[in-house]
Amino acid sequence: MKALMISRDSLLHAEVAAQGSARMPAMQLVASRNGLRDAVERQLPEMPDLVIVDASDAAPDETELLERLGKLYSSSSFMLLTREPQQDLLIRAMRAGMREVLQLPLVHSAFHEAMSRIEVATGVSQTRDGKVLAFISCKGGSGATFLSTNFGYALAALADKKVLLIDLHGQFGDATLYVSDQKPTMTLSDICAQISRMDGSFLDSCLVHVASNFGVLAAADDPNHAVDMKPEHMDAILRVARQHYDFIVLDVGRQIDAISLRALDQADTIHPVLQLALPDIRDGRRLLDIFRSLGYPSDRTRLIVNRYEKGGKLRLMDLEQALGADVVHTVPNDYLSATDSVNQGIPVLQLSRSSAVARSLAELVELVTARRVSESKGLFDRLFGRHDND
Ligand SMILES: Nc1ncnc2c1ncn2[C@@H]1O[C@H](COP(=O)(O)OP(=O)(O)O)[C@@H](O)[C@H]1O
Ligand SMILES: [Mg+2]
Repeated sequence: MKALMISRDSLLHAEVAAQGSARMPAMQLVASRNGLRDAVERQLPEMPDLVIVDASDAAPDETELLERLGKLYSSSSFMLLTREPQQDLLIRAMRAGMREVLQLPLVHSAFHEAMSRIEVATGVSQTRDGKVLAFISCKGGSGATFLSTNFGYALAALADKKVLLIDLHGQFGDATLYVSDQKPTMTLSDICAQISRMDGSFLDSCLVHVASNFGVLAAADDPNHAVDMKPEHMDAILRVARQHYDFIVLDVGRQIDAISLRALDQADTIHPVLQLALPDIRDGRRLLDIFRSLGYPSDRTRLIVNRYEKGGKLRLMDLEQALGADVVHTVPNDYLSATDSVNQGIPVLQLSRSSAVARSLAELVELVTARRVSESKGLFDRLFGRHDND
């Protein structure tokens, strides 16, 4: 987005330029004018997408220039900055069609929120309407972290979706390690401590980027920080995340606390992960009972059986009967590929593309994105490099 900045304040100019260039897509100050009169007298040959007007030191007889400016740049968006929002100024700004008025000194979060609104209004960035998918482990070791992280990567890699994974473990979260060797510089609790800065670019800057369209927000790693986290923070994070990502995958772990509960409340689907074994089924039952007592509709819960092997004593049917819920997907037991991937911190899709578990993840991507068969071929082609038409 190209912007014209009208201000006599060089510090403010630099501040806006820095904030703008950190955005995605970046907002560039392509020209500047020294006050309102200069702006009206020297019109830019090309309409900028945005005109940022600092009206702090506008003399009373200059405010009418706002309206002239509005006419000169009739197809641009406007952002008005002012130290003292006097009524006369605001009324003129409204008449000129300037909706975004920010008070100085600049509050960065307010600036970015206004920028996001302008981007949506001008169609520069379509706000996404991200879906929240929670993976929850019925029993420790069922594979919720392995599946959620690798599924997140698969969604990004195979379906071209923009994906965020949030590790909601209260303690000892390890999701980042499953798919990356980078050390997170920011965690969920750090974000909660700075929640007033929350917007798309701040969230993005806190992630470990596994791929350009797949980022992981690490779990709170310091138990002392955990006390600062409030369920309302989760609301703010998910609200912003839904605007900026197609899918938000949650690795919930076994312990449900106030934070993860708030996230589960907002999840579009919840995927309890369990293995076909009695202890898992017992714990799965308890979990589904909790969901029922919380009033979650039963079709929100989608069971995934991990490390599935056909021909065992227990059948899928037995599990479905015991839990009173359908299994939507099974992931085969693939010890070598899973262990290699986890040990190296490389997504299994990247490390062993043709492994049974990678294929199963691709199927899950199809299921979740509800791709039609013709489209899903493309997906498999990409995964396995097939070019035939069967
Ligand atoms: N489909 C699978 N086949 C073989 N091993 C698996 C599979 N899924 C997960 N694992 C292994 O199980 C271990 C525990 O998984 P993890 O995701 O950490 O469980 P949870 O998060 O539910 O406690 C991982 O180290 C991984 O290697
Ligand atoms: Mg885990």
